[in-house]
Amino acid sequence: MSASVQQLGYLVFEVSNLEAWEGFATGVLGLTIARRGGDGTLALRNDSWAQRFVVRPGPADDLAALGWQCADDAALDVITANLRAGGVDVTEGSPADAADRRVRRLVRFTDPGGIPSELFVDPARAEQPFASAVVRSGFVAEDAGAGHAVVSARAQAESQDFYTRMLGLRLSDHIRCTIHGYPVDIAFMHANKRHHSIAFGNQQKKRIHHFMVEARAMDEVGLAFDRALRAGVKIMQTIGRHPNDQMLSFYAKTPSGFQFEFGWGGREIDDATWQPTSYDRISDWGHHPPQFLLPPPGEKR
Ligand SMILES: [Fe+2]
Repeated sequence: MSASVQQLGYLVFEVSNLEAWEGFATGVLGLTIARRGGDGTLALRNDSWAQRFVVRPGPADDLAALGWQCADDAALDVITANLRAGGVDVTEGSPADAADRRVRRLVRFTDPGGIPSELFVDPARAEQPFASAVVRSGFVAEDAGAGHAVVSARAQAESQDFYTRMLGLRLSDHIRCTIHGYPVDIAFMHANKRHHSIAFGNQQKKRIHHFMVEARAMDEVGLAFDRALRAGVKIMQTIGRHPNDQMLSFYAKTPSGFQFEFGWGGREIDDATWQPTSYDRISDWGHHPPQFLLPPPGEKR
């Protein structure tokens, strides 16, 4: 038997500067605070779910967990059995663990690239509708998941096989190209209509390269870009558009050093007709490191 996860339900980060993260997550990204834990942990929302992002204190400044939603206990049990049959260690989370994630039940495992991962069922919903003071149109989330994550893999083929066979994700496409002299090969995979919930190349320094949140209106990308500039957030890639998911977005650094992507306009996938392809460029336009747009030293514009 096989079963598929439904969506990337939540992301957990371990961060060294919670104060900076609170200002960044609410003031730049436009997430809202769901709750504060006794140890300073912040839970954040971007839709009707009780929480989508958990930011907890610690030295790692990296991804601490990805949570994948299963339709029900039966689906979770099938995936767990398949993982165990494949030699993957799966441990049952305690009721306290589930309460911390605001889900009824969860299990834990580690993906081949070393990403701490969880399967869960029955996420709690917030009592209040989502309302961001800065992202007025709100976010594309709900059944499409919290957003996406681009993570480290030990080897791309190994992770692609794992997510296909174990979690039931489908290949969306590849981007294979050279960027500023560096070869890039990224596999993008989807769990639902969102073009990708997870993507990976090969090994990276941190577990996560970036996570993405998607606003419901194009102007939100420009507004978020302005907020990032005003907040002194380091812009890594200017506003641009990707050819595969067609996301209009920019990239900048979180207070933990890994990046976020703030986007709009991602295309949706219909599995009945989708054919995976390969692209030879990372962007149709834009997404430039800002310093690359400056004239060489000593040269006038
Ligand atoms: Fe992305």
